[in-house]
Amino acid sequence: MKKILRIVAWGAGVVVALIVLGVGFLYVRYPSVDPVRDLSVSATPERLARGAYLANHVAVCVDCHSTRNWEYFAGPIVPGTEGKGGEVFDESFGFPGAIHAHNITPAALGSATDGILYRAITSGVDKDGNALFPLMPYTRYNSMSEEDVLSVIAYVRTLKPIENTPPATKLDFPLNLIVRTIPMKRTPQPEPDTSNIYEYGKYLTNAASCTECHTKQVKGEPIAGMEFAGGFEFPFPDKSVVRSANITPDEETGIGSWSETNFVEKFKYFDAPEAKTLKAADIGYQSMMPWLMYAGMTERDLSAIYKFLRTVKPVKNHVEKYTPAK
Ligand code: HEC
Ligand code: HEC
Repeated sequence: MKKILRIVAWGAGVVVALIVLGVGFLYVRYPSVDPVRDLSVSATPERLARGAYLANHVAVCVDCHSTRNWEYFAGPIVPGTEGKGGEVFDESFGFPGAIHAHNITPAALGSATDGILYRAITSGVDKDGNALFPLMPYTRYNSMSEEDVLSVIAYVRTLKPIENTPPATKLDFPLNLIVRTIPMKRTPQPEPDTSNIYEYGKYLTNAASCTECHTKQVKGEPIAGMEFAGGFEFPFPDKSVVRSANITPDEETGIGSWSETNFVEKFKYFDAPEAKTLKAADIGYQSMMPWLMYAGMTERDLSAIYKFLRTVKPVKNHVEKYTPAK
């Protein structure tokens, strides 16, 4: 009996030692990213304009980092909250913990260098050295061009400073440890060839994270072969559920029968000032998709996205768009 107890005690000791070693390794070895660059972004008018466009209408930084008003369709941003942070993504939305979008206005990031911002956006490490949960789409921004990232940084610096400290993100175990392995080294990217409309469409689709929501995931991993086929579920706190649409060119269950004009107009419909006061009931459902922000994309850019989406593999996958609250 004594012997067995001793073996058990030893075994437990070994397990504890392994855990300590493993966690230590995670802390020493990760996040594994490039050193902070010595960077000073000059805010040229071109960069500020491009940065404002990307941050508000393509990469939609301002969407997650501001307060959204869910009384209205697609949660328009509450004016005056741009960049203040505080949108929380928690269990009620199906997330493994409580993930808080940080304050990215100069009130919070003023002392962070451009190199630190560059690292957060492209690699996923925040100003304090913490790994960011990839809901912050740095895995996408990692392949944005140099000039586009610098433009976003220049623009973020011009946001109105707002004093606000959102609570720290809390992830469930073991994700709170695993998250350290997700940040990535920056992959240098050439400037996109805007004259090659398919390539440019692909570039914009990536920067806008369309894949992220439009591909169903199991345990945070997109299902192979289901890219853009929709069905990703977004539960709302009132227990209604919206599911992302199939945007592959499948005729029957995707957007194969949509013309380019249909597609562009669907987005542009939400560009009118009145769109910000549409209620979910006016549309018939509520949506997580930031329609109101993407609506500000140029027709040319929306067309480029459409053209690229025509080239992805058609997938037959019928999606029930909305289940109202019971
Ligand atoms: C889909 C939502 C979403 C979008 C879009 C998004 N972010 Fe974030 N961002 C987050 C969340 C959530 C965090 C915090 C994650 C965490 O705590 O693990 C974050 C963290 C950050 C941080 C770290 C701040 C710090 O304290 O060091 C920066 C900088 C940042 N985001 C900038 C941006 C920029 C710039 C863009 C657009 C190019 C952007 N974000 C787009 C959700 C988003
Ligand atoms: C935050 C998640 C999210 C992101 C990001 C997102 N979508 Fe969606 N999308 C949805 C959801 C949910 C729906 C279904 C509800 C609706 O129609 O609004 C949807 C619907 C659509 C539809 C309507 C299809 C139909 O059959 O009516 C199109 C088209 C579309 N998305 C294209 C895109 C494109 C292009 C992008 C990138 C620019 C994108 N989405 C980014 C969540 C998202």
